[in-house]
Amino acid sequence: MAKEIKNVEYGLEKIFEGAQDFLPLLGTDYVEFYVGNAKQAAHFYKSAFGFQSYAYKGMETGSKESVSYVVSQDKIKLILTTPLNSKSEINDHIVKHGDGVKVIALWVEDAKKAWEETTSRGAKSYMEPTVESDENGEVVRAGIYTYGETIHMFVERKNYHGKFLPQFVEWKSDYNPEPTGLKFIDHMVGNVGWGEMDIWVKWYEDVMGFENFLSFDDKQIHTEYSALMSKVMSNGNGRIKFPINEPAKAAKKSQIEEYLDFYEGPGVQHIAVATNDIIETVTQLRARGIEFLSTPPEEYYKAVPKRLADHNHELAEDIEKLKSLGIMIDADEEGYLLQIFTKPVEDRPTLFFEIIQRMGARGFGAGNFKALFESIEREQEKRGTL
Ligand code: FE2
Repeated sequence: MAKEIKNVEYGLEKIFEGAQDFLPLLGTDYVEFYVGNAKQAAHFYKSAFGFQSYAYKGMETGSKESVSYVVSQDKIKLILTTPLNSKSEINDHIVKHGDGVKVIALWVEDAKKAWEETTSRGAKSYMEPTVESDENGEVVRAGIYTYGETIHMFVERKNYHGKFLPQFVEWKSDYNPEPTGLKFIDHMVGNVGWGEMDIWVKWYEDVMGFENFLSFDDKQIHTEYSALMSKVMSNGNGRIKFPINEPAKAAKKSQIEEYLDFYEGPGVQHIAVATNDIIETVTQLRARGIEFLSTPPEEYYKAVPKRLADHNHELAEDIEKLKSLGIMIDADEEGYLLQIFTKPVEDRPTLFFEIIQRMGARGFGAGNFKALFESIEREQEKRGTL
């Protein structure tokens, strides 16, 4: 008899007694990208992913150095930022890394305390606690460096009632494509260099009070050609999950090495966004031009019913429908999950998105790694980077 499986939002709520509570995190606040053309990037995220116009800052609002468009969908907020002149430091980031994630902002009760707790434990400061205010109140932000040039910004907004942040105004647009059902960020993955995974695992444990709750070595994550290692870090309430990957030695070049070559250092590899209806979401995304990795072969889908049955689960969705959309399925003791990966959304083979629907499972699709990486290798082969 199969157990009843429900869609879970924060599946890891309060299970990490080992994680420490000196850094309580309420959730992801926003993700900021540095891009070459924020206006066009915002249009892409609206048109293709169904994000909504949310907030704006630029010359009209007194921001003379850079322009930022904020787009939102349910709990997700993305900031797309471009410099307005050649002197801005943002240019250096774009020249080196291409378009990519600069800031993973975390929502906290007390940004000053978050900065003090983390910097006293060894974090390198990016921005000291800074109060920004306007007629809607004040926001306190403070930032620290994580891997590469990536930043964690702590955002305290309990005394702010404006749309987004001071300096930003509401962005109203006549062009408002329908949302595609994206709900919140499930996890964000970082790629780090050879031998650096454990350094960053320890950093997240010591500096952020996170716990390593899942690990995959190169014996589990490999194909005929390439391999990688991964450890998943989570904060105490499970709302923030950061898997960290490093390449492993194999016959050919792994996707992690390809990323490190093209991003020219460590950085965010993928952003996993949750949906409650992956079939509808992926149908929409495909219709709007989002490109996904190639669909796993027939044998993959033939093996799915047994993989679920082995864990005593039944698939609620039509497997033919999942197959036609290229959606993958993985199961663990608690349930199953449905997931699919886009091709990189930049010209460099760097950042991509994952769409995930959790039906009780708390894992990351380990059972799909082989099929997934073989799809990625087919793309690497075309790029001549395998
Ligand atoms: Fe993922």
